[in-house]
Amino acid sequence: MMITLDTKLTEPFVDEQIYNTHLKNAGLAYRTLQKKQSDRDAFLGWMDVEALESPIDEIEQVADFLGESCEVVVVVGIGGSYLGAKAVIEALQTPFDDTKPRIIFAGHHLDDVYHRYLLDYLSDKTFGIIVISKSGTTTEPAIAFRMLRLLLEKRKGKRFAKKHIIAITDGKKGALKQFADKQHYQQFVIPDNVGGRFSVLTPVGLLPIAVAGISSRALLRGAVRYHNVSPKEALRYAALRNSLYQGGYSVELLASFSSQLMYLAEWWKQLFGESEGKDGKGLFPASASFTTDLHSLGQFIQEGSRLLFETFISIKTSSEELVIPKTKNDNDGLNYLAGKMLFDVNKSAETGTKMAHFSGKVPIIDIVIKRNDVYHLGALLYFFELSCAVSGTILGVNPFNQPGVEAYKTNMFALLNKPGYENQRTVLLKELSKLK
Ligand code: PA5
Repeated sequence: MMITLDTKLTEPFVDEQIYNTHLKNAGLAYRTLQKKQSDRDAFLGWMDVEALESPIDEIEQVADFLGESCEVVVVVGIGGSYLGAKAVIEALQTPFDDTKPRIIFAGHHLDDVYHRYLLDYLSDKTFGIIVISKSGTTTEPAIAFRMLRLLLEKRKGKRFAKKHIIAITDGKKGALKQFADKQHYQQFVIPDNVGGRFSVLTPVGLLPIAVAGISSRALLRGAVRYHNVSPKEALRYAALRNSLYQGGYSVELLASFSSQLMYLAEWWKQLFGESEGKDGKGLFPASASFTTDLHSLGQFIQEGSRLLFETFISIKTSSEELVIPKTKNDNDGLNYLAGKMLFDVNKSAETGTKMAHFSGKVPIIDIVIKRNDVYHLGALLYFFELSCAVSGTILGVNPFNQPGVEAYKTNMFALLNKPGYENQRTVLLKELSKLK
């Protein structure tokens, strides 16, 4: 099995009857999703994993072209338009890898210091840009793209820029689509029935991942394989987290002992947070990277308010064989570990932590994958997408919208005097003056 669920440390905290009801509902929800898959308004295009393979040849060609001609490729996007690529690249690229092209992300916030130094850094580099926005109107990537594009045009000329800017956006609408058409940029389409946070296995994730030298093809193959086997574990996960939520737990902490999975947790938080956090409902998705966070959050997890459960991503094997060396005098008292693999020491920390947290009354769901490679990661991404869609359906929310994201945008546009936001500006300024 590519992914297994170990629930030994969850079961004592879960009411069996509640769990069985949720599991039954998970099965029903899955069948409903399958039935609705062909309905283009249902946002279920991500379930048609095999169809997602169709642009893969072109993705590989463009990735090769950018890889050969650029020192740096800047991926511009926010939310679902960057987190999937970032998660996979961080998980699979070997740390401290200096091979070109270097992938840098931009437009995922409005921080002026970051963007100032990025522009400075790029000022003597040959770079390309992959600009990603489904709506084509999101402010953060739009601003970053304008600044980066102007720099590229100034440094290398418009012809070079046209060839080295790739747009990934809607097939028909949006400001980015119109602009890309006008400039004759090479484009990839985000299928209209795939929402941002479910788009990692479309060109949104696959192109940056391929530019980073990781096989997008193998990533998809892993997802297809998981899609074609029984989704039992994904349904069980959805049912368990809903049972714990009903049992009074309000936070799910995704934890791992692999530092390379930190951004996978960021992607997961967005996937579950935006999909389920609405209508006054939903588990708050948080994350921790161990053992690092055992020296910060560890105290709270062990003895603080009993509001969270943990979901571990456990990796069974490693390809590294890093052995702890022996010293003659054992001044640091570590010779008892000499000859042991660092991976096994980390495993002991993992088992010890799970048992400690369990005895501290923290329920633990364990998602086990054989190894951290592209194939298993593809399966894991699909596993989470499916369990998220099923889990949101059980919870009784629409997992595919995000109405709450508009609130900050409206206020920001009003404060920035964006045409069309005059009324909101008046109301907001009045509210702000009352706070003074
Ligand atoms: O999941 C989502 O839909 C969002 O997080 C979007 O990905 C994010 O807001 C970026 O939107 P866009 O791709 O339209 O720029």
